[in-house]
Amino acid sequence: MKDLEQLRARLPALRDVTYLNTGTLGVMAEPVLERYVEALQRVERFGHARWDEVRATAEAARQRLAELVGACPEELAFTGNSTDGLALILASLRWSPGDRVLTSDQEHPALLLPLSAVSRRHEVTVHQFTVGSTPEETIVSFAERLEEVRPRLVAFSHVSCETGVRLPVERLVSMAHQHGALVLLDVAQSVGQCRVDLRGLGVDFAAGNGHKWLHGPKGTGFLFVRRDMLDLLEPPLVGDGAVEPAFERTADWLEGWRFRSDAQRFEFGTRNPAPWIGLTAAIDYLEAIGWDTIERHQCVLVRWLHERISAIPGVRWYSTLDPTCGSGMVTLGLSGWDGETLSRVLWERFQIIQRRVLVPNGIRVSCAYFTSFEDLEKLASALEQLAVGSAGVRE
Ligand SMILES: Cc1ncc(COP(=O)(O)O)c(C=O)c1O
Repeated sequence: MKDLEQLRARLPALRDVTYLNTGTLGVMAEPVLERYVEALQRVERFGHARWDEVRATAEAARQRLAELVGACPEELAFTGNSTDGLALILASLRWSPGDRVLTSDQEHPALLLPLSAVSRRHEVTVHQFTVGSTPEETIVSFAERLEEVRPRLVAFSHVSCETGVRLPVERLVSMAHQHGALVLLDVAQSVGQCRVDLRGLGVDFAAGNGHKWLHGPKGTGFLFVRRDMLDLLEPPLVGDGAVEPAFERTADWLEGWRFRSDAQRFEFGTRNPAPWIGLTAAIDYLEAIGWDTIERHQCVLVRWLHERISAIPGVRWYSTLDPTCGSGMVTLGLSGWDGETLSRVLWERFQIIQRRVLVPNGIRVSCAYFTSFEDLEKLASALEQLAVGSAGVRE
């Protein structure tokens, strides 16, 4: 990629480590950090003296985020992360005993745990479809399970955190809707690394974050509720800011309150606006590099890595190379090594940051806009040494 050296120079972490774990946490570029810190200084130094001005700037982030994900600002609520958003949506649906949910076999605990809580609390059953190695395989499994389960809600990730595969969301959503099911999409791993058009995809609800592929402030996330679905959700918590404002303290105002008509019914109390200004700066920064450039760069890196390591004895590649259903995140294993140990040794001996995966057993490698061939060469040569040295750790 053009200007890669310059982009990398703005990321101090890269001086000490090989950073291949954007799928867990992004690293913020210095110019973004400067804008974020400047916002934080305004908030903390001036308090209420400049509160309205800072709040208005932060509010612009809602518009910016809405444009990025193909939504209207009224359809977005700010949250702390994707986990917040997923849990809030699941806790807000009015469940009935016997309701069924269909999810995939490659989901993050951020979705599985609130689903399990819904199941415990409301006698809802949770069923799975299988994510295949091609979109067609996934569609076949989904169609079969949809027919059998007849779910009220279908909930799955846009990009799998286990293998980096990108699901054929548009097709799955259309099938789910034909069967009368609602759709909740987890976009934690897609926003910032591939295009996300929530309106185009047709989903009813979604949740994502700013701290992974957008490389924005930690503690930024959002939930999306399609405009016509808002009244289907009854937030489990209510507080000042989440309801239509009461301009008079009439005797019965506490009986008569109503939730706001937009997604901000999920926000209440005093919140720090600075991270949202930081997130706007992060989006501006990536947009200046260009989404097409970023996607192309990730795709080239993934192919290069595959080619480079396929000759290493014992390497197993678990992800797709098809750019239409892959991403910048891939999972690989090394024979004789369990993922946990391999991940730890790559960090401790080689200062390569990646993440272990339990199923399939291996490590996940994130190729981001700043990743270089040299980073991947370091990984490949570490794997070569470990393959030859064989630690004798059995899977
Ligand atoms: C698919 C998926 N969903 C949800 C999460 C949780 O995201 P957050 O850290 O924003 O709560 C992750 C984090 O790794 C993830 O990979």
